[in-house]
Amino acid sequence: MIELTKLPFTHDALEPFISKETIEYHYGKHHTGYVNKLNELIKDSEFDKMSLSAIIRDSDGAVFNNAAQVFNHSFYWNSLASSKSKPSKKLQEKIDNDFGSLDKLREEFIKAGVTLFGSGWVWLCREPKGMLVLKQTSNAHTPLASNLIPIFVCDVWEHAYYLDYKNLRQKYLEEFWEHINWEFATQAYEKTDNNVFIGIEPCNDIHDPFCQVLDELQNQDRVTS
Ligand SMILES: [Fe+2]
Repeated sequence: MIELTKLPFTHDALEPFISKETIEYHYGKHHTGYVNKLNELIKDSEFDKMSLSAIIRDSDGAVFNNAAQVFNHSFYWNSLASSKSKPSKKLQEKIDNDFGSLDKLREEFIKAGVTLFGSGWVWLCREPKGMLVLKQTSNAHTPLASNLIPIFVCDVWEHAYYLDYKNLRQKYLEEFWEHINWEFATQAYEKTDNNVFIGIEPCNDIHDPFCQVLDELQNQDRVTS
């Protein structure tokens, strides 16, 4: 049984960047729908007592698609912030080293989002050897399935932005950039220094946003009997 991750802000917290109506549909219908569908698919199966990350690793077809979408959306909500933030000094230095500058990363990130054909996701990830890379994933695909550690993600399925931006995906991506939760991204970067994301121990720190999302995901390890 997989649980729906709590939204880390109120439905109207991101306005005007993302409207309350979009959040209500996106979280209340789409994300919730993936959780419900996944639970329906895994009921009484080998996946029923597995963690979300284990299901993603071991499944394919409809189970994989729904499980990955559950994770991707949980990560997306945590990648967003209502107020402006900035990367930590350590993450900033890493971005400067791997992309040239934050502005260069922004340019490449927006380009990756605009050029992704169809529905999908644009991620900043770190590779197993530590290099930061941009990654486009189509449909439900997720970096967790390819041994990459996500730092932040933007959902570029039309359901994420169409009500607010119509077909102007680039405008949505530009606004997304101004609302990245760099505190969360910094946690994601600094807490995965040893190339461990899946299986990291629960942090149990209510003041630490990355711990909170990890714990939410880890809590899904709970065996429901
Ligand atoms: Fe979505």
